[in-house]
Amino acid sequence: MTDTDNISGKVVVITGASSGLGEAAARHLSARGAPVVLGARRADRLKALVEELTRAGGKAAAVTTDVTDRAQVQRLVDAAIRSFGRIDVMINNAGLMPQSPLGRLKTAEWDRMIDVNIKGVLYGIAAALPYMERQKSGHFINVSSVAGHKVRAGGAVYAATKHAVRVISEGLRQEVKPYGIRTTVISPGAVDTELPESITEPDVAERTKKMYAEQAISADSFARAVLFAMSQPDDMDVNEILYRPTKQDF
Ligand SMILES: NC(=O)c1ccc[n+]([C@@H]2O[C@H](COP(=O)([O-])OP(=O)(O)OC[C@H]3O[C@@H](n4cnc5c(N)ncnc54)[C@H](OP(=O)(O)O)[C@@H]3O)[C@@H](O)[C@H]2O)c1
Repeated sequence: MTDTDNISGKVVVITGASSGLGEAAARHLSARGAPVVLGARRADRLKALVEELTRAGGKAAAVTTDVTDRAQVQRLVDAAIRSFGRIDVMINNAGLMPQSPLGRLKTAEWDRMIDVNIKGVLYGIAAALPYMERQKSGHFINVSSVAGHKVRAGGAVYAATKHAVRVISEGLRQEVKPYGIRTTVISPGAVDTELPESITEPDVAERTKKMYAEQAISADSFARAVLFAMSQPDDMDVNEILYRPTKQDF
């Protein structure tokens, strides 16, 4: 790609980069010449990915990060500045989906989803926003879901967290106007990742995994959406991309 594609050379921080959507985005971005800084808890996965991207000629760094810890998210973003001098894009992607009907009272899982899916995104904003304000440029890409638009029985808390991501992103969009910062929400439907593994209720897990096996599409779909949003000229702010597998029936 040329230097004018608005991707090459951009420093991109990705949370939840050890699998699924974050990992796919890291591969596509690195192949297009963007230095990537990868955060997640599984250090071995991150290390292997950094090695793979570096061998292929990319620039990549990893910081073991639990997004429920504000200081760790700050360390991740600070590492981008230290390694590459700036942060152009913050992809707040880390998340989990232990769905179950409310009546099963899986309150620890509700807490966990709120901590990772909502507070993790807020901590990502808190860590990157001051740098972007100083730079007077930047781009937040926050990952919501079809569940950020629709609530279905058995998915109330997950849907609430994904609605929250959209609400926070819309507030952010309006507030960062003076700084030339762009904000994008990406709301995927079923994508083939490890996400259903976070479901602990056997009947819910079985139903969800069956649906994913029949309908989910590749994580490359998410990476392509990221590339689309990033590659637009700076005066175009792609605020949301909502997509589903063509087969998806909800
Ligand atoms: N797949 C789908 O169908 C789909 C659809 C709509 C939206 N989404 C959203 O896409 C995002 C990525 O999910 P995915 O589908 O790629 O699932 P995934 O393969 O399970 O990936 C989830 C990622 O989040 C990370 N993560 C989980 N808890 C974390 C924590 N406390 N701190 C840091 N990282 C954490 C995981 O890394 P570690 O375990 O190594 O920490 C992993 O890298 C999530 O926000 C999910 O809600 C997915």
